[in-house]
This record gives sequence, C-alpha cells and structure tokens, in this order.
Amino acid sequence: MLGRLPERVDIYEVGPRDGLQNELRTLPVRDKARLIDALVASGEKRIEVTSFVSPKWIPQLADAEELLRLVGRREGVTFSALVPNLKGLERAKAAGLEEAAVFISASEAHSKKNINKSIAEAIATAREVTEAALKAGMRVRGYLSTVWGCPYEGEVPVERVVEISRQLVDGGLYQLSLGDTIGVGTPRQTEQILDALLEYIPVEKLALHLHDTRGTALANTLVGLGKGVTTLDASIGGLGGCPYAPGAAGNLATEDVVYMLHGMGVQTGIDLDKLVAAGELAQELIGRKLAGKYLQAALGERAKKESRRAQT
Ligand code: HMG
Ligand code: MG
Repeated sequence: MLGRLPERVDIYEVGPRDGLQNELRTLPVRDKARLIDALVASGEKRIEVTSFVSPKWIPQLADAEELLRLVGRREGVTFSALVPNLKGLERAKAAGLEEAAVFISASEAHSKKNINKSIAEAIATAREVTEAALKAGMRVRGYLSTVWGCPYEGEVPVERVVEISRQLVDGGLYQLSLGDTIGVGTPRQTEQILDALLEYIPVEKLALHLHDTRGTALANTLVGLGKGVTTLDASIGGLGGCPYAPGAAGNLATEDVVYMLHGMGVQTGIDLDKLVAAGELAQELIGRKLAGKYLQAALGERAKKESRRAQT
C-alpha cells in the first residue's frame, strides 16, 4: 500500500529559524549557538540557523550576524538563512553564508502581511535575490507558503501554486520547499498538489515543509515519500510557526519524522538519541515542554527507568 520508499532522506532542520522566530522570548545568542551545536552533534547536515529579515518585523532573530560568528563553519554542514531582499542577501554574504533561502506566499493576503508585498512583487524580488546570490556563488533554496491553505483567504488554487512554483524554480533555485504554513493539509490534497507540480518540476527539486497544527504532518509526509520526495523540513521538538500566520503551530518534529523513517528502513544519517538530547536542551533553554511526541515519549521512559533504579 505504501509503494516504494526512498532509501535515504535528507532532513532540513528549521528549528533555530522557524522555531525561534515564533517564541515570545528572544533566546540569548549563546543559547541559540548551543542548540545549533547539539543539532550538528546529532548528525544534522542542513540547518536553517536564522533570518536576515528586518529586525523590526522579527526581533527574535535580530542577532543573525553575531550568531553566525559564534557558530562559524562546520565540515560537511550547510548553514542557511532566510533572505527577503537584496539588503538581506548583502548581510548573509557578509556573514559568510553559502546558502540563502528566499520565501514567498501563494496567497495575496499572507504575502502582504508577511513581507509587505504582492505575490507579483515578491516573485520579482525573489528572482532578483536568486540571481544575485547565484552570481556570488551561493546556493539558493526557496519556500512557497500557504500551499495547502491560507489563514486569511482559506483555499488556495493548485493552479496558482503550480504557476508560482514554476516561476521560482525557473529563477535558479536548487530546491523549492512547499509550505503547509498553518498545518491544514490532508493526504489526498497532498497527493493532488504533488501530482500537479510533478508534471512540470522534477521531484528532486521539491521538499516538504509541514507544520503539524492538526496532527496531519506525518500522514502528508508519507504521501510525499511515496511520490519520491527526499527532502523533509523539520524542527527540533516541533518548535515553530509564522508570526504573520495566526494559528500556525510548530513544524513537524525532527525526532518524530526521523523515528518514523528509521523504523521503515529509510536512512537519514542522524543519531536519534543525540537528537533527543538536542530536544531536551531546546526545552531547557526555552523553558517549557515541547510538542514533539517522540521526544516526550523518550524522556518519559528515561524518567521511569531512573525512578525504578532509585527504588532498587
Ligand atoms: P518593509 O517595512 O516593507 O520594508 O518590510 P522596507 O524596505 O520599507 O524597509 C523597512 C525597514 O527595514 C528599513 O529600515 C529597512 O532598512 C529595513 P528603516 O529605514 O525603517 O530603519 N530592512 C531590513 N533590515 C535588515 N535586514 C533586511 C531588511 N530589509 C529592510 N533584510 C521586509 C519588508 C521584507 C523587510 C519585512 O516585511 C520583513 O523583514 N519580513 C520578514 C517576515 C518574516 O520573517 N516572516 C517569517 C518568515 S516566513 C515563514 O515563517 C514561512 C516559512 O516557514 C514557510 C512556511 O511555513 O510556509 C518560510
Ligand atoms: Mg514554516
């Protein structure tokens, strides 16, 4: 029933960016660096560490330059960051980033709220940033938000998703990540969206960026794997959300998806126990229990074992 699954899947970690942009309290920059260290130690190879956006819009990530100075470079690991415009690209270049991520929306209202631009203006800016980044020798990833639905407009026509995606990919992105920004997607819809896109875009160029607001992220992931998608965005402990998308909850938790993949024999190169250690650190730094189910199960089991040991 599942069909053929890929042998290996790449996890693209968005916790330090998507997660921390949405926390009310700004984490001290040294704590962010500790969290990134723990993610690297777990074997994660692609990590979106911050955003070079306006600090007035996202004050939680205003320390992007300092954070990149602290984390430096790691052999075999690619750090990336969101870049909304040429100003952001200049900052990312100066910070020594090798990869940038442009982001636009498939719905007008979310586009306006999130980046103060219409979709057409946003496509033009994303293409301009992509061209300049490629010239500077960087790789460029892209996001298309609200693909499964918009918090302001509701349904988003799949034809529009296909049209915008084609324009973005034509601009030179190495990968386009499809965002279920507010986690409304269901599996049949995911199948329809992917089938429509795969008529024009090779599957290697697509990634899934699923928020787990309504608990459907893993089910949608499975549909994506069956269609040949091999890059999945995820966030440690299930941190995440978009401050300009009311109702957006955390991303698919990295530990949950890695557990599912390993259990089906799909490799990720990530050590699940070390990922739990990173999740535990994230909880400690943020100061509350995170939503990730595997994380809570693993920590609960450990606590039970420890209490049994203490009794004997
Ligand atoms: P604006 O106010 O229209 O821009 O914002 P502006 O060009 O008029 O500039 C306003 C001020 O910001 C100026 O400073 C600029 O210099 C400064 P002032 O003269 O007032 O002192 N500025 C910048 N400063 C630093 N870095 C920059 C930058 N650009 C301008 N790059 C803008 C437009 C795009 C800048 C703003 O709307 C913005 O930063 N938006 C980002 C919002 C954001 O980060 N949202 C969350 C990420 S998206 C998401 O979470 C979805 C995703 O996860 C996928 C999914 O789930 O679907 C990716
Ligand atoms: Mg997101």
